[in-house]
Amino acid sequence: MQARTDHSTVIEVRQLWKVIENPPSRVEILRDVSFSVPRGQFLAIMGASGSGKSTLLGLLAGLDTVTSGTISVDGVDITNLREDALARVRGRKIGFVFQSYQLVPTLTAEENILLPAELSGLNGNPRRRAAELLDRVGLTQRAHHYPVQLSGGEQQRIALARAFITRPPILMADEPTGNLDSANGQHVLDLLVQLNREEKTTLILVTHDRNLAEYADRIVTLRDGRVLTDELAPRPVETRPLEA
Ligand SMILES: Nc1ncnc2c1ncn2[C@@H]1O[C@H](COP(=O)(O)OP(=O)(O)O)[C@@H](O)[C@H]1O
Ligand SMILES: [Mg+2]
Repeated sequence: MQARTDHSTVIEVRQLWKVIENPPSRVEILRDVSFSVPRGQFLAIMGASGSGKSTLLGLLAGLDTVTSGTISVDGVDITNLREDALARVRGRKIGFVFQSYQLVPTLTAEENILLPAELSGLNGNPRRRAAELLDRVGLTQRAHHYPVQLSGGEQQRIALARAFITRPPILMADEPTGNLDSANGQHVLDLLVQLNREEKTTLILVTHDRNLAEYADRIVTLRDGRVLTDELAPRPVETRPLEA
C-alpha cells in the first residue's frame, strides 16, 4: 500500500503531458494539465472537438500512458503501475461509460451488467445487485435481451448499470449521450446524475454540451490541450421540477 496523503482528494493530476511523436510530426495533445478532484464531486470536462477531452479521460482511467506528469487515483500514482496492478485499480475504483455503449453483443443485458462483477470478483450477491440496477434503469423486462434487440437509449442504460455494479468510487463517462436523441439523452443523463448521488460516486463527465455540463458542480474547459478555465457551478445542482 502506498501512503495516502489526502483523503478528500480522489484524483490528482500534476503537470500532465501527452505528446505523440511521429517524426517529423509532433502532436502535443495535452500540455501541462493540472487539477485535483475532491471526493464526491461532479466534474464536467468541456472543450471543442479535438481539445483533448477523450485523451485526458483515457489517461485518468489508466487506459493510455502519459508522456510525463503524474495521475493519482485514491492516493496511488497510476502512471508507473504495471499492467496487472493497473487493471486492479481500474476494476476496483473506476466505472466507465462510453459514447458507443460498448456492450458485449453475445451477452444478454443482465450478463453484460454482471461482467465487471465477475472480472473483479465482487463480494456479496452480484445477481441481486444486477436485478436492482436493471430495475433502477427501468429495464427489468429486457434482462434477457441481447444488445442488438435494444434501442440506443436502452443500451446506454444497460451500460450505466454495468458501470455501477461494482460500486466504483469514481465514474467516468465520455460523451455518454452523444449518440442519443435529446429525449433519450436526457433520460440517460438524469439516471447518471441520480445514480451518482445515490452511490456517492465521484463523477467525471466529458461533454461538449453546455446543457449537460449545467448539472455539474464544476466545469474544467480545455482548449488545445490546456486548461482554459476551471469554474465552480454558480448554484447548487437541483433536480429539475416537472413542468406542468
Ligand atoms: N494517437 C493519436 N495520434 C495523433 N493524434 C492524436 C491521437 N489521438 C488523438 N490525437 C489528436 O489529439 C487531439 C485531441 O483528441 P481527443 O482527445 O480525441 O479530443 P476530444 O475528445 O476533445 O475531441 C485531436 O487533435 C486528435 O486528432
Ligand atoms: Mg472525444
